[in-house]
Amino acid sequence: MIQDSGVAFLDRIDELGITLFGERDDTALESLLRTYKTQIYRSYEQDFPLVGPTYALIKVTNRCNSGCSYCNHSIYAKPQLNLADASTESIKKAIREVAELGVRSVNLSGGEPLLRPDLPDLISYACGQRLVSILLTNGLTLSERWEELGKAGLSYIIFSLDSLDAEQYRRQRGASFKQAWKGVEAALLLRDKYPPAAVHITTVVTRHNLAELPDFVQKMALYAVSVQFSPYHHFDTRVPDSNTPRDSTAVRETINELISLQESGCPIANSRAYLEHFPSFFEQPQVLPSWYRCYAAYVGVFIDAELNVRPCWSWSLPIVGNLEQDELRNVWYSSSFNQQRTRVRKLECSRCWLLCTAELSIRFMEWGQ
Ligand SMILES: C[S@@+](CC[C@H](N)C(=O)[O-])C[C@H]1O[C@@H](n2cnc3c(N)ncnc32)[C@H](O)[C@@H]1O
Ligand code: SF4
Ligand code: SF4
Repeated sequence: MIQDSGVAFLDRIDELGITLFGERDDTALESLLRTYKTQIYRSYEQDFPLVGPTYALIKVTNRCNSGCSYCNHSIYAKPQLNLADASTESIKKAIREVAELGVRSVNLSGGEPLLRPDLPDLISYACGQRLVSILLTNGLTLSERWEELGKAGLSYIIFSLDSLDAEQYRRQRGASFKQAWKGVEAALLLRDKYPPAAVHITTVVTRHNLAELPDFVQKMALYAVSVQFSPYHHFDTRVPDSNTPRDSTAVRETINELISLQESGCPIANSRAYLEHFPSFFEQPQVLPSWYRCYAAYVGVFIDAELNVRPCWSWSLPIVGNLEQDELRNVWYSSSFNQQRTRVRKLECSRCWLLCTAELSIRFMEWGQ
């Protein structure tokens, strides 16, 4: 049973609306959703999509300028991923094809997307395709680039920031906090100069920053910026897990404190159902709540830096197509994609609790309840 998140209903509509439907207007969304939600539920039952996705996440590069301790894009990661970027034209083809399939908002991610000199060109191309553009970034070089991104029509910045403590930030994300904070200030400048652009913080919860989180959200609230938490995932089992919190009581206490803050109006953008699963996730990462259904392979499409199409970000599910060789529409309705959808329904996957998929699925299930 999904409980009420305690966040004002319209706030939730905004978050989900922008990400999934590229839309803030709840009246427009209501009529859109009525048929869409039924179609997705029916699609899920038969492992075949009756409609296209509304959300796309494209990794525009595998390169990164940061050294996050938990990420396979880190400058310290070994072995290195393929660091050759796809061409501007190839990414534009991907953007065009997601738009043609019905996608409303496109999240440009990586690696670090700010490392691409052509990022403003990609954003304005996305705008030309009537897509809402979202940038997922570490923000380390945003202070040099926010004007050109704002002019290009960037709608939404999701800024990854794990701590307000310089030492802790460096330990977790392997980069300079000073530089990251300059990026936050640049994001706020962009928000203020180019409305309706919005800024939002995303934070990976580990054993190191856990105790800081209630303070963190309250400080970010002073800038009218909401925060969305994601639990650390120990993806690469070849490296020791130095990030999962082991003190279950401390996790429960912090999550309860965050929920209380949210109830009293603090801008925490997670759903309550998502937050409540944190303690169990850290104890038993592969056991998802019994009510949970993953809709990642229906409401979203995931394209990696080599233009492979994936059912979600999981390494446990195979690639279902490649946009250098095929059209996205063919891949989306292909039997190889549908085979993976069957596996997703049975949760024959790594069973993640990642923001970009679990939170979307929860919000989708909660929508209109
Ligand atoms: C891979 S990064 C790419 C975009 C950009 N470089 C950034 O850091 O925002 C996308 C998001 O995944 C998060 N992330 C990376 N590794 C993770 C892990 N092991 N567990 C949970 N989240 C992770 C990052 O913190 C970031 O918010
Ligand atoms: S900045 Fe983003 S892509 Fe780079 S290492 Fe950190 S989480 Fe990974
Ligand atoms: S639960 Fe996670 S790993 Fe499994 S299909 Fe959904 S997004 Fe992928």
